[in-house]
Amino acid sequence: MSSLVQIEDLRLSFAGREVLHGVSLEVRQGETVALVGESGSGKSSTIRSLLNLYPDTATHSGIASVDGVDALSASAAALHGLRSRVVSMVHQDPRSSLNPVRTVGDSVMERLVHVHGVPVAQARATAVELLEQVGIRDAAAKLRLYPHAFSGGMLQRVAIAAALTVDPRVLLADEATSALDVTTQAEVLSVLRRLQRERELAVLMVTHDLHLAAAFCDRVYVMLHGTVVEEIEGNRLFSSAEHDYTRHLLEAAPHLKRRTA
Ligand SMILES: Nc1ncnc2c1ncn2[C@@H]1O[C@H](COP(=O)(O)OP(=O)(O)OP(=O)(O)O)[C@@H](O)[C@H]1O
Ligand SMILES: [Mg+2]
Repeated sequence: MSSLVQIEDLRLSFAGREVLHGVSLEVRQGETVALVGESGSGKSSTIRSLLNLYPDTATHSGIASVDGVDALSASAAALHGLRSRVVSMVHQDPRSSLNPVRTVGDSVMERLVHVHGVPVAQARATAVELLEQVGIRDAAAKLRLYPHAFSGGMLQRVAIAAALTVDPRVLLADEATSALDVTTQAEVLSVLRRLQRERELAVLMVTHDLHLAAAFCDRVYVMLHGTVVEEIEGNRLFSSAEHDYTRHLLEAAPHLKRRTA
């Protein structure tokens, strides 16, 4: 099967400082892939390429394509199409990605109503259904609240629901479940897995949690200082990783945390 997501030889510089030195990775339809590595290794910068979410001061080369459209060289219209329909992203910090002066309902329904022209009542029904699926009770009432009324974990669930409203083909999740307690994380991951299977979503997730990557992901890319140093199947991560840095990360991972996603 051909890859839905294809990043090839991606180089990225901020104000002349190169932070990605030729990153390549792929994600096929229906596949879940993890990006792991220490803070500052370039994980967020890599996945942001797929929506071309870089400041004007950034320069880049290479390809970051989704379904054959290279986000780095696409026209404004093609990029809009990717952002509004094909790719959804859950950002690292949900509090900063949700507008504090808009109700959670407006944020969750935004793309459905304003981009897809779905009637508000129908969009609200979709939002309620998705929020309930990610474990938010009494969702209809919660839609009227503002982000400050939610805990960090609740907001992460809201962000995941918002990302799934438009039935994307690719979900980019940047530490999307890291603010959740272990039980809630397992619940949200199982919802994500079910939705992913139903919709054949391609998921590219950044995580610091190697146990989660091993249990939940088909393949894992390990990043160090702006390059991919190892690619390995999730279920072989703990037994067969070869690169010294991957072994170092695995040794540093807490042993008591066993996750059953
Ligand atoms: N907008 C920006 N302007 C300047 N430098 C940036 C910008 N975004 C990222 N960087 C730099 O790029 C490098 C990679 O950052 P990135 O956010 O991709 O790392 P990360 O692996 O996601 O880290 P973390 O695990 O802490 O989220 C870092 O050196 C960071 O300082
Ligand atoms: Mg990051």
